[in-house]
Amino acid sequence: MQSSLAWITLFILVLSHQSTAQFLVEPCGTLFGNSDTNVGPLGVPWMAAISNSTHFLCGGTLIHRSFVLTAAHCIMQRGTLFVKLRAHIKTQYTATHALLHRAFSKSNLRNDIGLLKLSSSVVFDDRTYPICIDLGKGTKDHIEAKGTFKSIGWKAKKTGLELDEVEAVAVNQMNQTECQKPKNTICGALSYACLSANDSGNPLTNNIFFNCTSDREVQFGITSYGTLNGDEPVIFTDVTKYVDWIRETINIFYEEDTSVNTVRAEKPNLPCEDSVTQSPKTPPTQMVQEMWLYRDCGGDTIRSHLLAFIYETNFQANGVFVTDRFVITIARDLPENVYLAPMALNRTVYTSLQVDSIVRHPRYLEDNQNNLALLKLKGPVTIGDLKPMCVLTMKMFQQEAESTPPFTLFDVGETGESISIYEHDVELVNLGECSSRIRGTTGQNQLCIVDSPATNKTFGKRGDFLGKRMMYLGKEWLNLFGIVSYSTNGFHVLTNIMRYTEWMTQVVTVN
Ligand SMILES: *[C@@H]1O[C@H](CO)[C@@H](O)[C@H](O)[C@H]1NC(C)=O
Ligand SMILES: *[C@@H]1O[C@H](CO)[C@@H](O)[C@H](O)[C@H]1NC(C)=O
Ligand SMILES: *[C@@H]1O[C@H](CO)[C@@H](O)[C@H](O)[C@H]1NC(C)=O
Ligand SMILES: *[C@@H]1O[C@H](CO)[C@@H](O)[C@H](O)[C@H]1NC(C)=O
Ligand SMILES: *[C@@H]1O[C@H](CO)[C@@H](O)[C@H](O)[C@H]1NC(C)=O
Ligand SMILES: *[C@@H]1O[C@H](CO)[C@@H](O)[C@H](O)[C@H]1NC(C)=O
Repeated sequence: MQSSLAWITLFILVLSHQSTAQFLVEPCGTLFGNSDTNVGPLGVPWMAAISNSTHFLCGGTLIHRSFVLTAAHCIMQRGTLFVKLRAHIKTQYTATHALLHRAFSKSNLRNDIGLLKLSSSVVFDDRTYPICIDLGKGTKDHIEAKGTFKSIGWKAKKTGLELDEVEAVAVNQMNQTECQKPKNTICGALSYACLSANDSGNPLTNNIFFNCTSDREVQFGITSYGTLNGDEPVIFTDVTKYVDWIRETINIFYEEDTSVNTVRAEKPNLPCEDSVTQSPKTPPTQMVQEMWLYRDCGGDTIRSHLLAFIYETNFQANGVFVTDRFVITIARDLPENVYLAPMALNRTVYTSLQVDSIVRHPRYLEDNQNNLALLKLKGPVTIGDLKPMCVLTMKMFQQEAESTPPFTLFDVGETGESISIYEHDVELVNLGECSSRIRGTTGQNQLCIVDSPATNKTFGKRGDFLGKRMMYLGKEWLNLFGIVSYSTNGFHVLTNIMRYTEWMTQVVTVN
C-alpha cells in the first residue's frame, strides 16, 4: 500500500518537475550507504539542535560541513551557541559565528534567516549529511505547485530541557487569500500540533525527484513564527529566495579545515549519559549582521571610493557608486538617456559607460521630496582597488550616524581631466529654520546645511554629498549620508539616503 502511494507521488513529480538542480554541496538529501543505520524511519541526518549553555533554543539544518541554517531570531543571543546533530547527539559543536541576514528585522521578523558557522567541520557519514539547498532556482516553482510539505522538529523530554526524538508533521500550504503572508515567506498550517520543543528554525522540506533517477530531500523553508495549535498559519522563511545570500555568506566565511579527516567536534566530558556540559573556555559566538547595502564597500578616505560623473548635453550631476553596478544620484531633471563616467579623486575621468536603466524613487514627484534615482549599469565596474561607498542599512547604526555630528561634506569639482574634492566638517541646520530660510518646505527625509566661511562657494551642485565616518570592527568607514537635492540662498537641502535603504536594497537585489 505504502509503496504504491509513493509511486503515484513520484509519477506526479516527474511529470511536473524536469528541473535540473545545482546543489550547495554533494552529497545531500539522500541516503548514501545503507538505510539500516540507526537514523530511524524518518531519515533526517541533517537535523540540528541549537542551544546556549543553559537552554535548547531552536532547530536547524546541516547544509554544509561547517554551516547550520536556522532562523535569524534564534541566534541573536549573547554568549556562546552550540549545535548538536541528530545522529551524534552527544557530540557538541561550538558556533564561532552567528551570521544574520543583513535585512533581518527583529521587530517584524522579516528576512528571518541566519547561519551558524561551526568551530570544526562535520565529518559526513551515512548517518550525518546535509539536506539539499538548490542554488539553481530550479525548485522555486515547486513552492507554487506544491500543496503539502513536511516539517521536522525536536520533541523535548519531560523535563523540557533535553531533547528526545525528532518528529515530522505535514504542513499544508495556505494561499494568499487564506493568509496574508509577508514577502519571501511561505505560509502553512501544521496538520496537527505536536512538536513540543521550540519549533523556530525547523526545516520545511520536500522530497524531489530529479533527472528521473535521484530522489532528494530539499529544504524550502525555515520556521519563523506562528501559533502551533494546528489551524493557525505558521510563517516560514522561503529559502529559495535566499540561496544567493547562503552561497555568498558561506564563500566568505568558510575556511577549508585541513584537519577535517582526523578531527571530530570537541567532545565534552560527559558526567552522565544524557547531559552535556560545555568546556569553560569557549569564546562567545560572534554575531555578524551585515552592516551595509553592499558588502565589499569601504575605505575611510574619499580617495578610495568610486564616484561618477553623470552628464548629457544640458545636464551634469555627480553620483556615488553604492554597489559595483548601481550609482545613486538625484532624480530631479535627470534625462532619460545619460552618460556615466566613473571617476575617483586624483585620477582621470574614465571612459563613459552605458547606463542600462534608471530607477527613480516611486514617490518622487518633481517637488524635491524623495529626490533619488539609482542608475543601473550594463555590468559590474571594478577599477583598481576603488570601492563603492558604504551605505548603512541597520537602523541602530543609522541612528547613531545621524545623531553624532560632525558630518563631512564633499564638494566635487571636475576641471577638464582631473577632479578635485573639497572636504569640510559641517553640522546640520534645524529643518524648521531651514524651511523659513529657503521659503519652502522640508520633510523628515531631508537634511539641511548652510554655507559658512569654511564651505566653498562651489558647494551645492547636484549630487554633491555628505558622509559620516564611523568606527566598526576597529576601522574607520566612510558612510554615505545625504545627497544635495537643491540649494537656495546659501542653504542646501539634501536627501537623507539612510531613510531609503529599504528601497535601495530592493532595487539592487531585484534588478
Ligand atoms: C539561554 O537562552 C535562554 C532563552 O533565550 C535565556 O533565557 C538564557 O538566559 C540563555 N542563557 C545564557 C547563559 O545566555
Ligand atoms: C523559540 O526560541 C526563540 C529563540 O530563543 C524565541 O525567540 C521564540 O519565541 C521561541 N518560540 C517558541 C514558540 O517558544
Ligand atoms: C485559497 O484557498 C481556498 C480554500 O482552500 C480556496 O477556496 C480559494 O479559492 C483559494 N484562493 C486562491 C486564490 O487560490
Ligand atoms: C542531473 O543531470 C545533470 C546533467 O547530467 C547533472 O549535471 C546534475 O547534477 C543532475 N542532478 C541531480 C540532482 O542528479
Ligand atoms: C594628486 O596626486 C599628487 C601626486 O600623486 C599629489 O601631489 C597631489 O597632492 C594630489 N592631489 C590631490 C587633490 O589629492
Ligand atoms: C575652494 O575652492 C577653490 C577652488 O575652486 C580652492 O582653491 C580652495 O582651496 C577651496 N577652499 C576651501 C576652503 O576648501
